[in-house]
Amino acid sequence: MSRAVIFAITIALPLSAQIGRRPARPQVTRPDGPVWQVIRKNCTACHGIDDYAFFALDRVGWQKLIEAKHKASGGADLADADRNVLLDWLVERFGPQTKPFPRTYVPPEITTFFSDPEAKRLLDRACTKCHGLDRIEKSRYPEEHWRVLAVDMRERGAQLSDEELERLVEWLGRVWGTNQDK
Ligand code: HEC
Ligand code: HEC
Repeated sequence: MSRAVIFAITIALPLSAQIGRRPARPQVTRPDGPVWQVIRKNCTACHGIDDYAFFALDRVGWQKLIEAKHKASGGADLADADRNVLLDWLVERFGPQTKPFPRTYVPPEITTFFSDPEAKRLLDRACTKCHGLDRIEKSRYPEEHWRVLAVDMRERGAQLSDEELERLVEWLGRVWGTNQDK
């Protein structure tokens, strides 16, 4: 195949399909107050905080990970007080009781989309074991954030295939998105 043909195919794909090739990434909400002060002072010069969600560790585990990851860059030289504030928050937010975000979930491209009854059926089947659907109906997120949430729910035990997950995420973004006209 000539290069021109390959290029034509690439730009003909819908944007979602092009984005869809990359693994989904977690999103971590910025903590408030002193924790954020510590992170801003010590951690965000080199990279963001989303990667923290790839781990679920106890205090010792977090301390070891941070030391190990920054031997070369010297990024883990914190004052004791700062380290304690940081480790307290990390263990509370990404402790052993949580589920690490998977590194390898690559969203498949979907070509068919849920009608409202189809989405409701999947929600009833996959999302009502641990909490009510009000959790979902109360929330307004863009599609990207619904994906992070749905992947997290699946790690916790929600049973749905990749295809079902993506069709649900598309529907959630459409119906329970951040467009307030609904
Ligand atoms: C001087 C730059 C620098 C600073 C400052 C820094 N980091 Fe890092 N961090 C890195 C680099 C480079 C890597 C990748 C190292 C590797 O993968 O071997 C990394 C990796 C990590 C990882 C693993 C990410 C992954 O996806 O596996 C975590 C978690 C992490 N850092 C947390 C922190 C925390 C918490 C702080 C503040 C205490 C911090 N970092 C400060 C440079 C920095
Ligand atoms: C195995 C149990 C389980 C199943 C099944 C489950 N969830 Fe959850 N869900 C939880 C738990 C636990 C929390 C509370 C998490 C927290 O507060 O950190 C939660 C919280 C939520 C929240 C509120 C959190 C937020 O950030 O807005 C939403 C929305 C949600 N779930 C959606 C879903 C969807 C959609 C499904 C089906 C795909 C689902 N859940 C299936 C356990 C489950």
